[in-house]
Amino acid sequence: MLTEQDKLKKIAGEKAVEYIKDGMKVGLGSGSTVYWMIKRLGERIKQERIVVEGIPSSNKTAEWAKEFGVSLTDFSRVTELDITIDGADEVDGNLQLIKGGGGALFREKVIAQAAKQLLIIVDPSKLVKTLGAFPLPVEVLPFGWEIISKELKELGADCSLRKQNEDIYITDNGNYILDCQFSEIKDPVKLHNELIHKVGVLETGLFIDMTKTVLVGGEELRVIEK
Ligand code: A5P
Repeated sequence: MLTEQDKLKKIAGEKAVEYIKDGMKVGLGSGSTVYWMIKRLGERIKQERIVVEGIPSSNKTAEWAKEFGVSLTDFSRVTELDITIDGADEVDGNLQLIKGGGGALFREKVIAQAAKQLLIIVDPSKLVKTLGAFPLPVEVLPFGWEIISKELKELGADCSLRKQNEDIYITDNGNYILDCQFSEIKDPVKLHNELIHKVGVLETGLFIDMTKTVLVGGEELRVIEK
């Protein structure tokens, strides 16, 4: 039984598949909205016999791609993606994003950067005026994470090490995630630049100026463009 929010994610995810054309190389994001996109893409591949290859941003996404019959490739064979389709945790009015709620932010940023277009798919609850109510995920190397966390606290964040059940959450890259609660992120560009220069920070969940199009699931699907 789908929740109301799941239904809206499904609408956005399925609509996104219309942006995929025969022969395209596609970056496959992560998360529950992307799940619907991959499922629908698998149906199109079977029904229309289109040829599409994807690069997944997480092990979970790779599993879904295999389950739904979407062929996978990698960056040793593909140097540019036609489109990347991904979810988000927050989207502000300038289409700046917080991502990484699912822990896949590094690979998500790689496939976003490698693509001619990043298409974001969300339900309306992800739209915010100012980023920051959702704790910002920051991927850090395990060695000395305590020191990095202390430094991020000095920038005004309340950081907690992500856990899964009782264990430390480990990303697909073998790293840790610090979930950093800032009161409000008024200047995402400045904050990203400050964080990324800290030794031990691999990547932040701030996706700055990376997308121009967001699909918002709803009774009437909304397309926000920049
Ligand atoms: C995964 O690391 C995230 O960036 C997801 O894209 C984000 O958390 C959105 O997930 P849902 O589609 O599950 O809401």
